[in-house]
Amino acid sequence: MRHFLDLADFASEDLHAIIDSAITLKDEWCKGGNPPLLRGKVLGMVFQKPSLRTRVSFDVAMQHLGGHAIMLGPDEIGLGKRESIADVARVLSGYTQIIMARVFAHQHVVELARWSRVPVINGLSDAQHPCQAMADILTIREHFGHVAGLRIAFIGDGNNVAASLGQAAAHFGAHFTLASPAGYALPEETLEGIAEVARHRGGSVRVFHNPLEAVRDADVIYTDTWVSMGQEAEASVRREAFHGYQVNGDLMRAAPNHAVVMHDLPAYRGFEITDDVADGEQSLIFQQAENRLHAQKAILLQLMQ
Ligand code: CP
Ligand code: NVA
Repeated sequence: MRHFLDLADFASEDLHAIIDSAITLKDEWCKGGNPPLLRGKVLGMVFQKPSLRTRVSFDVAMQHLGGHAIMLGPDEIGLGKRESIADVARVLSGYTQIIMARVFAHQHVVELARWSRVPVINGLSDAQHPCQAMADILTIREHFGHVAGLRIAFIGDGNNVAASLGQAAAHFGAHFTLASPAGYALPEETLEGIAEVARHRGGSVRVFHNPLEAVRDADVIYTDTWVSMGQEAEASVRREAFHGYQVNGDLMRAAPNHAVVMHDLPAYRGFEITDDVADGEQSLIFQQAENRLHAQKAILLQLMQ
């Protein structure tokens, strides 16, 4: 059975097929609606952390495809606390046809998948955010008409969003640049994995410390919060460490005029990004958020058909 935990598990062709399907599903939806291909199917949504986009877009995606979603928040299941992950997986597999989980430790979603009899989707773990990256690729493709050969510069924390974006960039033949302060880059192993895929697909990976250097030839400038969910206690240390990594007007002036700005949201305006840039003409942030809906429909169908 196929799960959707980490883009590193996929062949590039499978991910290209998901994006093609997302484009068709979006077009269909805009012209009147999607066929009810998931009629009678139920998605179980397990959340250990808060969410706006992931929770609502998966729920609405199931509704548009004729199915239903059940929300199971942190206080309802107590994943791994009230009940073991293995038991939750086996019980939920008896009621639902697919599970999406947002967890702290990546190992928790791996464990869920190990015991589940239905496909499991990673709706964000501390290591990966693969659904976000697919919506981002869809957005980049819509804007530029292609992804291969583009230069995507991630400025900030080498976290879950950066990891999945880097992997997606490699699968789609884009060049990925990361600019992070010392101690906050992506793990070496993750960078090597991205570089390996990039080598086969015509892309590349670069790591800088200087954000101005990283955006000099960028087509896409991407950032994410400096303080991810679960890191709240480190907020002041992190905000200090990321000083100089803000995506603001000065950084945009160092980039080509045609560069676009992306952020997975929620944005902490005034920290990793300024209002003028987030709301400026080069920003794609709300198109990205909307595209979570369309990309997720394609992921659900890929796993369930
Ligand atoms: N980008 C994203 O995953 O948003 P949520 O945390 O609101 O789901
Ligand atoms: N890096 C952020 C992404 C939120 C969607 C976090 O993990 O909190």
